[in-house]
This record gives sequence, structure tokens and C-alpha cells, in this order.
Amino acid sequence: MNSDRRDKSAGCGAGCDEARRAALKICAGAVIGMVASPRDNAFADDPTRAHPQAGDRLVRADADSGVNTPLDLASLAVGDKPLIAYPFDPATRTVRDGSRLNRVLLIRLDPAGFDERTRARAAEGVLAYSAVCTHQGCDVTEYNPTENVLFCFCHFSKFQPAHGGEVVGGPAPRNLPLLPLRLEGGQLVVADTFTSRPGATL
Ligand code: FES
Repeated sequence: MNSDRRDKSAGCGAGCDEARRAALKICAGAVIGMVASPRDNAFADDPTRAHPQAGDRLVRADADSGVNTPLDLASLAVGDKPLIAYPFDPATRTVRDGSRLNRVLLIRLDPAGFDERTRARAAEGVLAYSAVCTHQGCDVTEYNPTENVLFCFCHFSKFQPAHGGEVVGGPAPRNLPLLPLRLEGGQLVVADTFTSRPGATL
């Protein structure tokens, strides 16, 4: 790794190299998986692959299958590590985990630091960003509180969560898409579609 890479990885902490290797492995498979194929058409009507829709709830991506408890405001406190979640249709109890592009990173921050467009899409400080890097599609799972950025281990792109997922470092060519949220009975509810197309920029 050259010195430039080392600088960009500042803040990763111990285990960064190992995490990066794992992320790159996932990324390689993810990019292959995101290339359109005739098989995709066969799943066009599959509700698990449908994009997040207004009214969807969110459930943890690591929940045991069959245990789909919609996340509420109490699920996340300011300062907690991000949670990775999938949209969930409460009417049919369908988890939309058939497409990796539906993965979202949930984080709760102090909304006082948000710009106006971001505040309008947050629920009491909870933000839902696409968990797929807009560079080459690696997972975005981490938050660095020192820099106040979400980052991708693969090539160290950084995204500013308080400002609409704006790219503030690394090779990512597009902002991280934001999924607008609202609250209903304390539950986190999807209010609209992603602000832009999730996934790698091929
Ligand atoms: S895939 Fe995220 S920085 Fe390259």
C-alpha cells in the first residue's frame, strides 16, 4: 500500500487491512452481480427485488429469518454504530432482500448539523443511505465520527451524511443516495424513493 493510500485510510483503526480485503472480495462479486442479464427479467415481478417504496418499514439485515421486527426510533441512538437494514412491506411481510441494491445504512446523528435538504429527509436525526458505494459497489458500513463521514473500505471514498451523502474524498463519482424517512407510531417508515440510483457507477 502506498503512502497516499495510508493517508486516505487514516481513522480506520486496527483491522483496517483485513476489513478492506474482505470488502474488496465482496465488491468484486457485487459488481459481477450488478451487471444486467436476461435472468434479471425473470425476477422483474419478484417483490423481494422491488425497490424500496413509500410506506415500507425497515428491518435489520442480520435478523434471523422469520424474525422481522420493524425498526423504530429507539433502535438507534445518536453515537451508535450504523445498522444495516432492508426495506420491509408490512402488508405482505415481504423483506426486500432479493437485491443487494436495497441495502441501507441507518445512522442517527444530531440533526442540528444537517443541511436543509438532509433534515427534510431524516426522522429525528435518523438517516437511511444506500449501503452500496457509488464507485465500484462495495459495502458502505462504517462511520468515522472524527471526520463525520461514512466511508468505503475498498478505495476509501468518504461521504458526508449531514450533507446529502456528498462525496468528500476518494474516487466515488456520485453522492450516496439517500432514502427519505418519516416516523409513524415511532416506527421508521420509508417516505419516498432513493434520491438517486443506488449502486456502482459502471
Ligand atoms: S468501491 Fe467504494 S471506494 Fe471504490
